[in-house]
Amino acid sequence: MDGQTKNWITEGEKVLMPTYARFPLILKRGKGADVTDVDGKTYLDFVSGVAVNALGHCDSILVDALQEQAETLLHVSNLYYNLPQIELAKRLVQHSFADKVFFCNSGAEAVEAAIKLARLYAKEHISGDRFEIICAENSFHGRTMAALSATGQSKYQSGFEPMLPGFKHLPFNDTDALENAIGPQTAAVLLEPIQGEGGVRIPSPGYLATVRKICDRNNLLLIFDEVQTGIGRTGHLFAYQETGVIPDIMSLAKGLGGGLPIGAILAIDAVAASFQPGTHASTFGGNPLVCRAGMTVLDRITEDPDFLKNVQLCGMKLMEGLRALQEKTGLITEIRGKGLMIAIDLTLESMPMIEAAMERGLLLNRTGEKTLRLIPPLTIHSAEIDQMFSILSEILMENCDAKT
Ligand SMILES: Cc1ncc(COP(=O)(O)O)c(C=O)c1O
Repeated sequence: MDGQTKNWITEGEKVLMPTYARFPLILKRGKGADVTDVDGKTYLDFVSGVAVNALGHCDSILVDALQEQAETLLHVSNLYYNLPQIELAKRLVQHSFADKVFFCNSGAEAVEAAIKLARLYAKEHISGDRFEIICAENSFHGRTMAALSATGQSKYQSGFEPMLPGFKHLPFNDTDALENAIGPQTAAVLLEPIQGEGGVRIPSPGYLATVRKICDRNNLLLIFDEVQTGIGRTGHLFAYQETGVIPDIMSLAKGLGGGLPIGAILAIDAVAASFQPGTHASTFGGNPLVCRAGMTVLDRITEDPDFLKNVQLCGMKLMEGLRALQEKTGLITEIRGKGLMIAIDLTLESMPMIEAAMERGLLLNRTGEKTLRLIPPLTIHSAEIDQMFSILSEILMENCDAKT
């Protein structure tokens, strides 16, 4: 650890709660796909704030828009309307299945809002005792108590029991289990169209369409949690668009603000109408600054015809390069991905790989003991992918050499 880094970490540990197993790295500035630490070392960022920095770091159009908004209006209460909130909601409605939007501040809050809306709707429209949400094993929906209860991984829940009642977890991809699990209290099914934190798990073809049919037959709402998959990450504005399966409610966050904290739920009119004045709220939700960020991100993705093409092409280039590395090193057991959301399972522990990459100026992320995840900014260039591969292949080759 160099000069300033060490000092700042000592300072930080004195005052920050120890909720994160942080790397010894203090990031000070960023531009595009690069971030630079307090000691002046630059890293190629294939983490992008965990799938947040859709336009890369400090995109000049986003910075200009925020500067202008900061000088105009930062915050007003939801007792009043504000223009960026209306403008962003209009864009989300225009480009999705939805008719109405509710804004909050994070992914977990978006999932909370989706659960509350589903419960209200089911009680009003189906029957008074419908409240249960069916979720998937291995899912991740956030850390607040309802989102945590919906999450299908016990490692996140440990110590916080009891979980809230009314959540059932079934194997992802198992439609028979879903048919069998539906009971008189079931209100909705909540799924990630691709499980992100669970290791980039893509459902079998037809799974989501069958879930939709089962929901329709049983009068259940279908909620897609697109907090990670949404806003271009999979090469489509929303992952559901590629599947052709339309949910009734969708949660968004992460990439939506391009680095500013915003979450949202989108819903069809018939469902959104269950939220009435007083039923749900957020002080900061949809404030002018974060909505201006969301407008800028959405405009870029939807108005630049090459934006999503770049995500798809760069995603393909990454998959091809990873397959070549798999062949060359024998250290990769599986590659899964869509667009710029890719996971690789290794025969080795992933943490030493991440540390070795960091040493060489590359930030990587993992979803498990032996699983790396690549989630670069959506604006990543081909040359940066080459740069990433030259580091990753060096590290893997060293481990090959060590094995022989
Ligand atoms: C699918 C999904 N839902 C919800 C969340 C929670 O989002 P946040 O950390 O913004 O609360 C995440 C975060 O990784 C996520 O991937």
